[in-house]
Amino acid sequence: MKGLVFSEMIAWAESAYSPALVDRMIVQSKVPNDGAYTSVGNYPHGEALAMFGTLSELTGTPVGDLARAYGFWLAGRFTQLYPEMVNVYSDAESLLGGVGSHIHEEVTKLYPEARPPQVQATKIPDGMQLEYASHRPFCAGGARPDRRFCRPVRRKPQCYP
Ligand code: HEM
Repeated sequence: MKGLVFSEMIAWAESAYSPALVDRMIVQSKVPNDGAYTSVGNYPHGEALAMFGTLSELTGTPVGDLARAYGFWLAGRFTQLYPEMVNVYSDAESLLGGVGSHIHEEVTKLYPEARPPQVQATKIPDGMQLEYASHRPFCAGGARPDRRFCRPVRRKPQCYP
């Protein structure tokens, strides 16, 4: 997975907690190279899972809550880093609708080795329904065989009931 996801996670954790706590997170997670990630490099997604798991233990905060907080941070960073992708959308609903058909498509043009997840947004009467599919075990609660949307995706977008 792109190093950007790791380097931003470390920057977020330093600002949300402290550089000292992040050092402990890195050491205790036993990630290689003392947690040095370049934004254009690629690294095993298991290292992100290890760091979130350790951060959860160190802070007593559930992994899902940490991931949600990181997501808020990352949304702000993406508007700074990729304004040309984000600024074409006037609201959150249209942006979410464009993740699968536009944003992650652009990501794979920029970084051919990236394998972003499939995110399909559908307007429903009382909000938006998001369907997520990835070859990575990143669903809340971890990959479970009974959670169909966690199934690995090979080539084409798939719709799940
Ligand atoms: C400007 C906006 C966005 C950019 C530039 C962007 C870029 C990326 C990049 C570079 C990756 C790493 C892929 C890889 O290395 O294989 C990624 C992964 C991911 N993206 Fe996006 N993304 C954006 C918006 C979104 C949004 C709005 C969502 C959710 C609704 C989303 C969901 C995810 C998830 C869950 C992953 C983790 C990888 C996985 O689950 O397999 N992204 N994205």
